[in-house]
Amino acid sequence: MTTDSTIYRGLKGVVIDKTNSSFIDGVEGRLMYRGYNIHDLAEKSNFEETVYLILNGNLPTKSQLQEFDAQLRANRDIPSEIIDIIRVTQKSHPMDVLRTAISALSSFEPDTEDNSIEATMRKGIRLTAQAPTIVTAHSRIRQGLDPVAPNPELNQAANFLYMLTGKIPDPDESRLIDKDFVLHAEHGINASAFAARVTASTVSDLHSAIVTGISTLKGPSHGGAAEEVMKFSLDIGSEDNAEPYTRNILEGGGRIMGFGHRVYQVEDPRARHLQKECEELGAKKGQPKWFRILSKVAEVMQPYASKGICPNVDFWAGAMYHLLDIPKDLFISIFAMGRVPGWTAQVIEQYSDNILLRPLLQYEGEYDREYVPIEKRG
Ligand code: CMC
Repeated sequence: MTTDSTIYRGLKGVVIDKTNSSFIDGVEGRLMYRGYNIHDLAEKSNFEETVYLILNGNLPTKSQLQEFDAQLRANRDIPSEIIDIIRVTQKSHPMDVLRTAISALSSFEPDTEDNSIEATMRKGIRLTAQAPTIVTAHSRIRQGLDPVAPNPELNQAANFLYMLTGKIPDPDESRLIDKDFVLHAEHGINASAFAARVTASTVSDLHSAIVTGISTLKGPSHGGAAEEVMKFSLDIGSEDNAEPYTRNILEGGGRIMGFGHRVYQVEDPRARHLQKECEELGAKKGQPKWFRILSKVAEVMQPYASKGICPNVDFWAGAMYHLLDIPKDLFISIFAMGRVPGWTAQVIEQYSDNILLRPLLQYEGEYDREYVPIEKRG
């Protein structure tokens, strides 16, 4: 009666399909989008170019990039009905509002049910452009402020900060967000991309798959870690307290958020970029404290490197956002805004050679129990 097969709990080490989108080498700590090293993209590219690369497979020419960028800028508006939905749900976590708003946007999308590659690409570009408008409208509405309309003169990162604050941002701060979006844009079959692909594998639509991705990203084991890192940094409060605080968590069997990764056995290659930015921004803002606290935590965690527990992308990100005066509960939404293109690319790959994603569970319950009518149950 039992299905006697090996169980791969958490699908650890299971390869479920082929991909061209990104390459991750967890042993050497390498990450490539479409064959391009993340270090080159982080230092030399920008979000618009990286999104083009992820969705189309190649870097754009100048004119292709101009056209693509114009498309992103032209698609930022959201209908007033979505603003109404944001008002109604404003007390929810920003990720819940983003999820709800993207779900509702399917009612305004002419191609919701069209799963062709062309339509999915168009929808992915539109959702990439609209996600910051949703997140910033919510942030302002819950503060009793009016949403700020997108500014077509600004790139995606600068426009995000502009819509958040209502002020044209400092170019250095826009550059940091731009780099952050690049670093978060795609990452193989992580939990949220897997969830999005499961949805796509049933031949459901992109909006549904992105809603699934957002729901899965929200948890602290995935995208929620940056917020948790900032919470414990605030709790630690001073550099002197970092060591006893960290040891106390570890001795109690707890986990240090922002450390460890299912794939990387060494430092996540994305982390070093945010580490550098976090240090420089802290110095520029006259607040080196957060970098110092995190450096101390990392020092205490050093012996864990031999077990493959090293800083991941979220370890330094939270302090950087905090230094940019971004509220803690918006941190995951920044990750999500960057990841919409990655989810879209994964969904397109799934559609391109679809197979229903449907694993098995090994049943361990009882068999053939007698059904006793309710009036006879003790
Ligand atoms: N601090 C202390 N110990 C840890 C940590 C940590 N952050 N992460 C893993 N371990 C230990 C864990 O206790 C276990 O030890 P033992 O074998 O003695 O029981 C061992 O490492 C293996 O842990 P696991 O949970 O089986 O490994 P996993 O591959 O399922 O975990 C993870 C991956 C990301 C869920 C985990 O490392 C974790 O919870 N990290 C903290 C949350 C975090 O920072 N998440 C962001 C991930 S990167 C952003 C993204 O792409 O999502």
